[in-house]
Amino acid sequence: MRKKIVAGNWKMNTTLPEGVKLAKEVNEALAGVNAKCDVIICVPFTHLASVNNVIDANKLGLGAENCADHKSGAYTGEISAPMVASTGAKYVILGHSERRQYYGETAETLRAKVALALENGLTPIFCIGEVLEERENNKHFDVVKAQIEEGLFNLSAEDFGKIILAYEPVWAIGTGKTATDDQAQEMHHFIRSVVEGKYGKEVAENTSILYGGSCKPSNAKALFAKPDVDGGLIGGAALEAESFMGIVTAF
Ligand code: 13P
Repeated sequence: MRKKIVAGNWKMNTTLPEGVKLAKEVNEALAGVNAKCDVIICVPFTHLASVNNVIDANKLGLGAENCADHKSGAYTGEISAPMVASTGAKYVILGHSERRQYYGETAETLRAKVALALENGLTPIFCIGEVLEERENNKHFDVVKAQIEEGLFNLSAEDFGKIILAYEPVWAIGTGKTATDDQAQEMHHFIRSVVEGKYGKEVAENTSILYGGSCKPSNAKALFAKPDVDGGLIGGAALEAESFMGIVTAF
């Protein structure tokens, strides 16, 4: 059975003291509830080691928001997968639309990042999703299929089985405009069929596919009720413990 997951993506928000405080708040809130899903927070690189020290790893997973496409060496300012793993983090978001769009990440760099993440025991949370124009031109299925094929279909079935997918329609990110639960279900079902076409039914049924884009406590329940929506990747609403927990408890 695939896992239900709610993951926060803090993006470039919070100073170190603010981030540690938020992590502690989420950790404490989780201690008081019987969460019906795995809960993960993905935080800035600078916060990883400190946050790892204040959370209960049995209740709250920790991840980075990116890693480098090289293992080590003369790449000033980059953070490698082994460095991320050495902080205690277990997850890494890869291929977020903001990185594809603002930092020119291509399928080729993403394949390298995914390979390095897996080699270092990190679980990639691999993001895919179309921009508004692509949806309006009815290209959204082709775009998402190509992102999956080009970024991930070089993997063995065993390695693909370690990937968490996150469908994030770019037009819904930070805009307050959520995909309807039917739009999310339609795309998640399609994504699962693409995975099935390559790796077979068992792998497809075991792949967690998260929805991201203006997910909030008020819409999480309807989204998570859909059969192919296995949880959420949460931006803005993950920056306060109360709203994040409101989404966690939507399961
Ligand atoms: P918002 O929840 O702020 O729309 O962001 C979604 C996202 O990009 C998570 O990775």
